[in-house]
Formats: sequence, C-alpha cells, structure tokens
Amino acid sequence: MKDLSPAKADLDPIEIASTDEIAALQLGRMKWSLRHAYDNVAMYRKRFDEAGVHPDDLRDLKDLAKFPFTHKDDLRNNYPFGLSAVPRENLARIHASSGTTGKPTVVVYTKNDIEIWADTLARSLRASGLRAGDMIHNAYGYGLFTGGLGAHYGIEKLGGTVVPMGGGQTEKQVGLIHDFQPTGIMVTPSYMLNILEGFHKAGIDPRQSSLQVGVFGAEPWTNAMRKEVQEAFDMHAVDIYGLSEIMGPGVANECVETKDGLHVWEDHYYPEIIDPVTGAVLEDGHEGELVFTTLTKEGMPMIRYRTRDLTRLLPGTARNMRRMEKITGRSDDMIILRGVNLFPTQIEEQVMATGGLAPYFQIELYKAGRMDAMRVYVEATPGARDELSKTAAARMLTKHIKDMVGVSSEVVVGEPGSVARSQGKAVRVLDNRDKG
Ligand code: DLL
Repeated sequence: MKDLSPAKADLDPIEIASTDEIAALQLGRMKWSLRHAYDNVAMYRKRFDEAGVHPDDLRDLKDLAKFPFTHKDDLRNNYPFGLSAVPRENLARIHASSGTTGKPTVVVYTKNDIEIWADTLARSLRASGLRAGDMIHNAYGYGLFTGGLGAHYGIEKLGGTVVPMGGGQTEKQVGLIHDFQPTGIMVTPSYMLNILEGFHKAGIDPRQSSLQVGVFGAEPWTNAMRKEVQEAFDMHAVDIYGLSEIMGPGVANECVETKDGLHVWEDHYYPEIIDPVTGAVLEDGHEGELVFTTLTKEGMPMIRYRTRDLTRLLPGTARNMRRMEKITGRSDDMIILRGVNLFPTQIEEQVMATGGLAPYFQIELYKAGRMDAMRVYVEATPGARDELSKTAAARMLTKHIKDMVGVSSEVVVGEPGSVARSQGKAVRVLDNRDKG
C-alpha cells in the first residue's frame, strides 16, 4: 500500500489550528447555534424554557450540559418539517431515513448547509488519502439516504471525478471498477465484501485493481474486517462516520496515516459522551453514548442529539481535533443473551479470526424453551467446504465466541454463498424470539 498521507499545505487551516483556537471557534458557533434553535424552532424554545435555560447561559463549552437532549422521537413527532429553522422556500434539499417502524425521519438543509457538508466530506476524503484528480467510485445508495448524494458532493468538492454508481448490481460495479480504474471507492464495508466476491466470480485479481483507498461507513465494522479488506485489495480501508440527523456522512473520519479512530470535524459538529442511563456527561476516554450539537447548521440545528452510538472520545493524533473510537455498536443493536451484553461487531471479530470461514455472517436469536438462544450463520470458504473442515470451523467458532464473548451459541457453517448478502447496510441480527 502506498503512503497517501496528505501534505500539510492541503489541509483546511482549522485542521492545523491549536486546541485553544478550535475551542474558541466552537464557543462562538455554539452560542449562535443555541440562539438560532431557540429563536426559530418552537420545540427548542419550549424545551429550553421548561428546563429554565436560555442561550445566554452558555458562557463556556461545558455549559452545554445544562441544555436538554434531543431524541430521534422528536424528529418523528415533528414530522415532516417541524424542526426546520428556516422558511420552507429557503431549503435546498431534503433527506429522510426509512427507519424500521412508523414515519421516516426527515432532515432538511439550506444551500449553505450543503456547502458545509461537501466541505467536511471533502476533508474526510483528503484524510482518507484521496485528493483532487482522483476518480472515486461511489456505491453508497442515492436517493433519500444521505450516503450517495452526500459522498457525491464531497467528491466534487475535493476536485475528484465521481462515478455515481449507487448500490446494487454487483457484477456491473466490478466491471466499471475494472474498466474506469478509480483510485477510491465509497461503499458500506459489508457491500465491499460483495464486490470482493464479484471480483473473484469475474476471475479478476482484486489485488491488481486500481483501488488504493476504500472509505467505508454507515454501519459498524471491525479492525479485523479492515485487515481482511486491506489484504484482499491491497488498499487502505478507512472509516467514515456520520448520521442524517447531524448532516450525513463525513461528521468524523479516520486519517490514513494513523487509522486509529475517527477525527470528529469538531468545528461543525460538537461531540459529547454521556452515560446512557443517567445522561451525565462523561470525561473524554470513557465509553458511553455519543451526543452531537451542530455548530453551523441552518436548516435543522440539532442540540445535544442522542445518537445511541457507543464509543469514547480520545485526544487528537494526526489532527488536533478529538477522535472517536471505532463504534462498538448502537445501544439498539445490543443483544442481551442470558445476562451477557454483546454486539454483532464482537461476533464479526470472532468470525474473522476463525480459519476456513468466509467473512459473511448473520445472527439469529430464538427461543429455546423459555431461554433466549443465539445461532450464528457463517459459510465455508471455497477451499474448506468439505464436511470435516466445516465441522472443525463450527467447533472453533463456537469456542471463540464462548471464550472471547462469553456466551454459548450454535454455529451453522453453510456452503459458500449461503449467508444473505448485504446490499447496503447489513442486517446482522434476525430476531425470531417471538416466533414459535
Ligand atoms: O449512515 C450516513 C453515512 C453514509 C455515514 C455513508 C457514512 C457513510 P444514517 O442512515 O442516518 O446515516 O445512519 C446513521 O449509522 O448513527 C451509526 O449507528 C451508523 N453509522 C454510520 N457510520 C458508521 C460508522 C448514515 N463508520 C447511523 N461506524 C449512525 C459505525 C456507523 N456505525
């Protein structure tokens, strides 16, 4: 893999600013954002008034803790445009996430918001090792999902050439990558594994592909998966994080030179970590729920939005802005099995560590009598599909899960291709506990 660290001269000035300079900028912007929300969004005015706080009470960044949280339900309850802080005709774009139940959550952007989003995404791409002139294959879904268009505008802002492929049609993806020779790819990590499989099916050696950097996000993935993809393609695999409520992709990104967690673009998106039960703000370094406050967003300011994502804040390394550790999972995805809390990423690590298994898996929860039980579906690699190897792999993975995660599970090793393939965000857990 090539050294793709960006030149210092190519970074945004704020990326090389001191932590004091960053904090001073944040304080000014936070005051503006609280005032903007209070003056223009009825919900915030009501909430702040009820909590007895006013935007003028913010004198220090720590004062943010006095302000009430915002939850996903607040977006649903104000569907579709109740949290917008600007007149409808000033909106340049609308995105929405389908959600699993009920109404979609709608998010809105002014022209200026779209500009800032593109700027922070371009910054993310630069951090990933891409630069002006690079061709980038964009396989994030286009449409109401923020992945496709978010990445698209960022690539253009970077000065790159965008291939607006979107999700699905794996065979076509492989053909275009082979023919166009992009240096970068943006896609969910689970779908990248489909593309990898597509390379093998087409008889093309992925290590010979033009790809040098993959910018993977929209779902949790592990360092074990990074290793797998980096080795398979002989390219850098870098983590990109974001969420629609705050902006979309590019709220935080890893730096290719360190790959040690994601630098939060704190000049626009202010992070806090809280205890998910008490709501108390935790010191940096402690794990808890990630909360964001937008500092510059006009269309839909978000004050202390609870993401449900679990991580830690760490000091900056490749940049002065703080890092968030790779996400373990969302509190909603946590599986509680006979008293043990676990996340699908922990199973991913064990699948990757077991010989003879392909990197695909799905977890099924079911009832065994009155107890909850877990079954893990995996598949043999083409070279280890005989019964003896499959039995050995099943035994090994069962043991790894028991030893490392602490739960008993049944492991089913199927034929190559037997585990459902992701088309975007992978569905890791099938919950059949209420089905007979
Ligand atoms: O997934 C935005 C995005 C698109 C990010 C493309 C990166 C790349 P939502 O659909 O609103 O937005 O989902 C946001 O996805 O709260 C996390 O739970 C999860 N997520 C996003 N990026 C990562 C990541 C987009 N790098 C939700 N690691 C977030 C782990 C991630 N989880």
